[in-house]
This record gives sequence, C-alpha cells and structure tokens, in this order.
Amino acid sequence: SGARCCEQANDECVILFCTQTGNAKRIAEGLQQSLSADQKFCKQTRLFNIKHFDPDDNFTRFSNSCCNRITLIIIISTYIDGQSPDDGKWFCKWLQEAAHDFRVDKNLLNKIHFAIFGLGNSEYNDNFCLIAKQIESWFIKLNAIKLIDTGCGDETSFMSLDEQFALWRSKLLNKFINSNNERHETQTMVNDVRESESDVESPNENLVDIEDLMISRKIKENSDGKAKKEMITPQLRKELTKQGYKLIGTHSGVKMCRWTKSMLRGRGGCYKHTFYGIESHRCMEATPSLACANKCVFCWRHHTNPVGTEWKWEMDPPEMIVEEAIKNHCKMIKEFKGVPGVLPERFEEGLQIKHCALSLVGEPIMYPQINKIIRFLHERKISTFLVTNAQFPQAIQELDPVTQLYVSVDASSKESLKRIDRPLFKDFWQRFLDSLKALSSKRQRTVYRLTLVKSWNNEELEGYAKLISIGKPDFIEIKGVTYCGSSKGSNLTMNNVPWHEEVVNFVKLLTNYIDSDYEIASEHEHSNCVLVANKRFKVDGQWKTWIDYEKFHDLIKKFYETGETFEATDYMTDLPDWAVYGSNEQGS
Ligand SMILES: Cc1cc2nc3c(=O)[nH]c(=O)nc-3n(C[C@H](O)[C@H](O)[C@H](O)COP(=O)(O)O)c2cc1C
Ligand code: SF4
Repeated sequence: SGARCCEQANDECVILFCTQTGNAKRIAEGLQQSLSADQKFCKQTRLFNIKHFDPDDNFTRFSNSCCNRITLIIIISTYIDGQSPDDGKWFCKWLQEAAHDFRVDKNLLNKIHFAIFGLGNSEYNDNFCLIAKQIESWFIKLNAIKLIDTGCGDETSFMSLDEQFALWRSKLLNKFINSNNERHETQTMVNDVRESESDVESPNENLVDIEDLMISRKIKENSDGKAKKEMITPQLRKELTKQGYKLIGTHSGVKMCRWTKSMLRGRGGCYKHTFYGIESHRCMEATPSLACANKCVFCWRHHTNPVGTEWKWEMDPPEMIVEEAIKNHCKMIKEFKGVPGVLPERFEEGLQIKHCALSLVGEPIMYPQINKIIRFLHERKISTFLVTNAQFPQAIQELDPVTQLYVSVDASSKESLKRIDRPLFKDFWQRFLDSLKALSSKRQRTVYRLTLVKSWNNEELEGYAKLISIGKPDFIEIKGVTYCGSSKGSNLTMNNVPWHEEVVNFVKLLTNYIDSDYEIASEHEHSNCVLVANKRFKVDGQWKTWIDYEKFHDLIKKFYETGETFEATDYMTDLPDWAVYGSNEQGS
C-alpha cells in the first residue's frame, strides 16, 4: 500500500479550525479553497470545526490507515491565558494528556504531517499564540512531522491577519509541491522519510510574489520616519468608523452619545444630569486612548479594541487631540440643525461644550500626556469626568485634579474580575487594589462605577463592601449592565441584565454592608442607575451631589496658577428635589 500512496499527492488533508469570533474559520475556509483548487496539493481536503473532530477516533484511524501521508492543518485563535477558544478545549486536553501519558504509544501520530497557524495578539507577550505553540510541542512529542514552522498571526501587525496568513500559506503550498516532487522522483517510501524542518525556497513564481509584495510594503511603511506602530490598524479604523466613532489622529476618538441627542430635542438628559447637573446636550464624549489593558466581556466594541500594558504607539500631541475632538463633536452637533424636534436654543448651547466625559472606550490615562489634555479642557471651561479601569495605579497617582474621577469596579473578587474584564496584566488584582488605594488619596470628587450583572450573591456584596472601604469613594454609581447585541466574543445575554428594581434592591443590601457613611441619594430609572453618596454631601438634610461648575473652574485655575489644591466639598451644590431618591420623577 505504501507504494500506491507514494504515487499520489497527499492522500488526505484535514483542516481543523478553532475560533471564538470567526477569524480562524474564515481563514481556514480560504485555505480549503486554495487546496481544493489544485489536485497537486492534496487529493482530498476536508474542513472541520475542531469541536467536531474526535481525536480518539480520528487519530486511531489515521495510525491504522493505509495512507502514508495524512496532513493535518490547524488554524486556531488564542484566548484567556493563551489558551484555546472553548470549542478546542477538549481536543487540546486530549492531546496534552496523550503527549504526557507514558502509556500512549509515542508513535501514535507518526503518519501525520502537520502545520499550525495561530491567531493572536502580541500584546499578550508570553501568551502570544501560546496554544498554537503548545499544540506543536505535543504533536512533536507524539512523533508527528512538522511541515513548516508554526505561524503566529498578530492582530496588531500592520498587515491584516489574512495577509499574514497568505504569507504562511505560500510557504505551506511550496512545501506541498516540493515534497510531492521529491516523492515522485525518488519513489521513497514516505514512511521512512522525515521531512527537513528548514524551508526550501520555492521556484514557484506566484507564491514568492506575495512575499515580495509584503516585504516591499513593509519597507515603504517603515521608511517614512515613523518608528512606532499606529494604534489604530486600518481594519480597526474601518470598523470603528462603521460604529459611528469619529477618529482623531492615530489613537483618539469622539462619538456622540444618545443623551446628547435626546437633550438637544428638549427631552431628558443622562443620569449624570440627574446626579451631578451635567447638561447632556453640551457634553462631549471622547478618549485619547482607544487602547486599554482589558478585554471586558461587556465592552461595546465587540473585542476589537487594541490592547497593551503600556504606551508603545505613535503619540499625537494633546493640543491637536483636544482641538480635533471639539471640532468633530461640533460637526456632529451641526448635523442636528433644523432636524424636527431640535430646540434652537439647545442647538446653540450644544455648540458651546461645557463637559467632557473622558470615558468613551479605552483607557484615557494610558495616554502619557493626559494631564495636558485635561488642562486644555479646563482652560476652555470644560469640566472633566475621567473614567479609568483601575489597572494603572501610578497614572492615577500622577493625575492632576479632574472634576470627577471614576474607577470602573466590574467585579468584587479576583476570580470574577478576571472572568469579566479579562485583563492583560498578570498582576491585575494587585494593580486593581493599588488603583483603588490611589483613588482614596485624591482630594477631588471620586466615584466607583459598579456594573451589575444579574444574580449576584452575598459573597459579592461583602466583596464590594471591602473594595469600598479601600478606595473610600465619594460616590458609588450602580448601574445594571447594558446589553449591546450578541457578540461572539462574550456570552452575555439579555438574561444577565437586571431590572431597575433588582438594581435598587442590590443597592439597599449593599448599603447595609458598607459603613453608615453612605446613603442612596438619587436614581435614574431610564439608565437603570442608582447613586449612593457619602453623607458629607448631605448638609442639613439637603443632598449636594450636584457640581458648582463655575466654582470648580475658579478652583482649578488657582491650582494651575499657584498649586493650591482643593476638596470635593468645595464645589458641591444642591441636588434638586426632582432628582432626590424616592421622588415621583425617579430622576427623569
Ligand atoms: C478575551 C480575549 C483574550 C485574548 N487572549 C489572547 C492571548 O492570551 N494571546 C493571544 O495571542 N491573543 C489573545 N487574544 C486575541 C485573539 O486571539 C485574536 O483576537 C484572534 O484574532 C481571534 O480570532 P478568532 O476570531 O478566530 O477567535 C485574545 C482576545 C480576546 C477577545
Ligand atoms: S476597559 Fe473599557 S475599553 Fe477596555 S475592554 Fe473594558 S470596557 Fe472596553
């Protein structure tokens, strides 16, 4: 049977893909097409989702097969801790155990010629395409034969994943052609041949062309003096623009929030209007860093966000970012001119921005010149609400005063934070706790933003209470998680979204757990959000959670001039009756 097989192209080629959000599948399907296009590569190519490929049955079948040559190509993406997406968990476990189990025949896979292409993100450092590399090592332990080096597609590369794959594929196809030629020429029994691991350069013009193309493109990109990568890859730019972001330079963006539109039309504002007196139609939502150090399950961007543990991208100047943000925001406001329902006076006011929420997406304090951005905003009499996700404690320490500083507290314990925020940092929990500590020493207004997913338990309540005692925030906003459409990158569904009463109920229980310094001050039913405030913002029975913006600007001006600092209570003002918790209006 060996002789018969030798005369043919590869007898059987199996492509397995393992994906969470579809990249690996798309790439694997393309590969199947290329391989099926020409019989000289493989007689038959079959494509499987890895979850439908039973390693027990198939590997036994392969090892008993009369075919001398079975090619297995695996295209696999990388997830939490560098591991496989869910669909590949069983396959990987099986393979790892087989590789390490002395009872398993070490020649189990010796008929298999394999090639692996991993998909990942190099910001994950040691975990970059880790599972692809591990599969390679397990295959080698079981004496499978490596066709070409394992490819590692990097989503932060200047090339798209598909382009990077095309390069790897060209090497693979060359290898197929070369080894088939060899087999024809020598009529050697393939069983006895161990392929050399070094890549033989191919004479095939078409395939080499792709590589040349890529190399010339790379040189072009590098020679225009830009040493660092841009944060927003062309693919991401397309995607974010589609989602309505106005991108500024290479790493910033603005987007108009629905409450801005609502208030332009004379309707209600967002919960920040209710809690702090923000005028939503004069509020600009922006970020100077679309990147962050997490992959939160509820992130609006469906996990396409660039990630990093430090700033390593090209950096745009802060003046430009602020100017462009204002320009772009006003351009979006101007589109509302004459739109039915838009009130002319609100429209005019809208063009005079008074607030900036540095929260859109990403991690604003990752941008090394964040203090300058904030200063430029304050100098334009724009107040600043800055949200950080508590992974950069030092940046919090070094931050100059902002009108209100938030940390997102997405979970109450180390395990659940890891599950929900999926942080890049290995020491994420220490960083989180240190960030909360850094917050506690800030003099201006500080806020915890708790995002609540349904079905919490008492342990979580205790956990949150502990975190509150560390950061001692002035305010705690508790908001039910919002569902932003199904996303393959997370398994959040409508079922995880708590009702407003459930949020209120949680908050009542929480206030029992935290010390008596806190009380429910306000709520905004429409955004499913409740405000708990430290009682020092209640003077003679009157809540003062609103902000005196004029006063803030006086204080911050003095701070810039003299370095004299100030307190959160120096710029508080009355919460109007309609916004007080328990009022008939429920905050709207
Ligand atoms: C939550 C999450 C965790 C990730 N962890 C890693 C990782 O540890 N190492 C890595 O190289 N890539 C990691 N990535 C990047 C993905 O592997 C990459 O986005 C890939 O293109 C996804 O391909 P897919 O669509 O086939 O699932 C992670 C992505 C997400 C969303
Ligand atoms: S920190 Fe913010 S931007 Fe980053 S993944 Fe989480 S929600 Fe998205």
